[in-house]
Amino acid sequence: MKVRITAAARWTGKFSAALMFEDSRAPLGHIKTAATSYLLTVADEEGFRGQYRKTILMRGDHGRQRLLLAGLGKRQDYSPERVRIAMAKLIKLAESLAVEELGLTVPDPKVRGGRDRFLAAAVEGAILADYRYTEHRKVDPETERPLGTLSLLFGPGQAATTTERRAVSGAQVIAEAVCYTRDLVNEPPSQKTPEMMAELATWLAKKNRISVKVMRKADLVQLGMNGILRVGAGSHEPPCLVHLTYQPRRKSHRTVCVIGKGVTFDAGGLSLKPANSMGTMKSDMAGAAAVLGLFRFLANTNVSATIHGLVPLAENLPGGGAQKPGDIIRHYNGTTVEVLNTDAEGRLLLADALAYGSTLKPDLMIDMATLTGACVIALGDECAALLGTDQKTINALTSVGRDQGELFWQLPLFDGYRSHLKSKVADIKNIGKPRVAGTIAAGLFLQEFVDKSIPWVHVDIAGPAFTEEGRPYVRHGATGFPLRTLAAFLREL
Ligand code: BES
Ligand code: MN
Ligand code: ZN
Repeated sequence: MKVRITAAARWTGKFSAALMFEDSRAPLGHIKTAATSYLLTVADEEGFRGQYRKTILMRGDHGRQRLLLAGLGKRQDYSPERVRIAMAKLIKLAESLAVEELGLTVPDPKVRGGRDRFLAAAVEGAILADYRYTEHRKVDPETERPLGTLSLLFGPGQAATTTERRAVSGAQVIAEAVCYTRDLVNEPPSQKTPEMMAELATWLAKKNRISVKVMRKADLVQLGMNGILRVGAGSHEPPCLVHLTYQPRRKSHRTVCVIGKGVTFDAGGLSLKPANSMGTMKSDMAGAAAVLGLFRFLANTNVSATIHGLVPLAENLPGGGAQKPGDIIRHYNGTTVEVLNTDAEGRLLLADALAYGSTLKPDLMIDMATLTGACVIALGDECAALLGTDQKTINALTSVGRDQGELFWQLPLFDGYRSHLKSKVADIKNIGKPRVAGTIAAGLFLQEFVDKSIPWVHVDIAGPAFTEEGRPYVRHGATGFPLRTLAAFLREL
């Protein structure tokens, strides 16, 4: 979708659109149609008064003009998230009419929170709602035509400021990175093997200021990254560890290490999953996809910190070489783990990545992983869990997430629950007590591999990374969660 900034006076398109507060009797901005007040009277008669999530299509000027309206709800409930959702509704309506170009009347500069934030939210909502994964299926051009252009119409004497232009292009950059993350997660598992993912990372590093190192099987053996190796041992596809680095243009004073679980397919290994739990396990690399999406974002923006991205990649299959329940792994930092359930594999490859990340001495380490089914039970499928040792970052991610329409909630790392991980034959085991605090046990497991001097946050995205039924601006499948929050957080550093 193209996004353009246009003067309303010069706009000649047929489909214009605007957002409207409930009972405000006029849409936002100076909308220029011959018979706006007449149209609004009709809209009102049809039951549209700007209610949240409602839309209406109006025809005016003897059918030459179409006006699409979407409700924002009560003025006091205004938020950027409501703008995203209202835009998603508009886009769906526009697509159902096979609209090629839609002109959105922008509000007055004094809109609450600033017009730049309104514009960013509107563009994000539009691009994300327009996204479809059509790589491997036929598309009906009549009913599934994506919107060609979104024109942002500025009223008389209201040119876009530099801040507003930046907000628009920034929103395009992040939304496109989210679409890239979604594409990776939606991709069939056999088409995104660890090696293929590493090749994509190598492509990303062709951009300035980004470099990449791929540690393949022989390197992993040499380094003693046995967690990654053993998870991948049941597959013909060799595992690997990708290390991306972003260097800001100016001298950086902060280093952040971001890690994403990259299990390109999780069959459970010898602790095989039942068939109905396996159907969505191509999404078990959503953390890794968020890291790659982040680097795509970094390639097109200026973030002032040095960012390391670590992506441990493996396929968790029950092949002949697979690790067995009862096996003991010696991880990169020397800690030994008794593997009692090969389906608790994410923590095994993250263990090596966290220990390796610690050697980079970052000021902050964040890992993202579709780690536990227990997290979906605790917090539902729209909310991620935050656990860790850096309360400031946990608070910041929670509040940035609220702005971004991504939900996060903290879970504790209770000291007393460490005993759940006790093993008689190794330092710890890879599962806790059955059905008891599974997400916390996983968090406590990971903590064993983080250098105590490094502030660390673990994000369990098992719930929100993927949706079967859809979200306001996700049709189906991968959501791109939590990339928007992560990017906004890093931008604000
Ligand atoms: N990838 C799964 C977790 C998961 C489940 C993600 C559902 C998304 C949706 C993970 O590797 C796993 O299998 N975890 C086990 C851990 C258990 C064996 C301790 C789980 O949650 O059942
Ligand atoms: Mn698993
Ligand atoms: Zn998994």
